[in-house]
Amino acid sequence: MKISIIGAGAIGGNLARRLSEAGHDVLIANTRGPQSIEAEVTATGARPVSAESATQDRDVVILAVPFGVQPQLKKLLAAAQESTVVVDTSNYYPGMNGHIEAVVDGQVESLWSQEHLGRPVVKAWNAALAETQRNMGQPTGASDRIALPVAGDSDRARATVMQLVDESGFDAYDAGVLAESWRQQPGTPAYCTELGLEELEHALLAAEKDKAPATRDRLMEHFGALRTMPSHEQTVAINRAAHY
Ligand SMILES: NC(=O)c1ccc[n+]([C@@H]2O[C@H](COP(=O)([O-])OP(=O)(O)OC[C@H]3O[C@@H](n4cnc5c(N)ncnc54)[C@H](OP(=O)(O)O)[C@@H]3O)[C@@H](O)[C@H]2O)c1
Repeated sequence: MKISIIGAGAIGGNLARRLSEAGHDVLIANTRGPQSIEAEVTATGARPVSAESATQDRDVVILAVPFGVQPQLKKLLAAAQESTVVVDTSNYYPGMNGHIEAVVDGQVESLWSQEHLGRPVVKAWNAALAETQRNMGQPTGASDRIALPVAGDSDRARATVMQLVDESGFDAYDAGVLAESWRQQPGTPAYCTELGLEELEHALLAAEKDKAPATRDRLMEHFGALRTMPSHEQTVAINRAAHY
């Protein structure tokens, strides 16, 4: 597939490596220009480009930028074909993304994203820590493979992204329509808890929309108050303990 990734940080950089390794034609862009993209991001074949040239004639465009930045990408996405699948990897954290009234009032994050991007999105790769995505991927069929939810309204687009999630090292769980994607937002049991397919299904069903923002904020407070940086394993254990 012809894939572009906007955002070359922890999430975009990892996907650039994984998806080009899987044989896709990958372009990657950031704000500071192609020359600023780190060599390790392009080590498996992804090509750095300007954001302005990243959205034309692509099968998939993955947005790996901070949540609140997405409205700035509307013009870039207007240059993409109608058939291009757009993927939203973002999460809303008030402390990092500022107060966004509609989302604070309960609008599903990816519905806000697609409204401000001016096109439909598929939500994927948002519910795993960057370190999980970078280090914990396994080949298809591995018995203890971590699963990631994929939500979106178009069956074709969701299936396309599920294939890419699989190729990035994770089982893809069909999480249905975008309006239900609050079940994979911060503060829910499915969020950054490294579950297998079956456990993930239960976690998504167990999510409680009204409780998630408070759980998200409590976890952020908890992490902020720790004296030492928790290990990856400790971080996942703390996330799980908030629900089980
Ligand atoms: N980190 C995690 O553990 C994690 C896990 C799951 C999901 N996510 C979500 O994934 C998204 C990316 O997170 P991240 O951790 O990868 O962030 P990051 O490391 O800070 O990288 C963000 C990237 O976005 C680029 N960018 C910002 N504004 C842009 C614009 N207007 N046009 C083009 N590129 C732009 C930045 O470019 P410059 O470098 O040039 O500024 C940077 O390359 C976020 O929405 C986050 O919520 C993160």
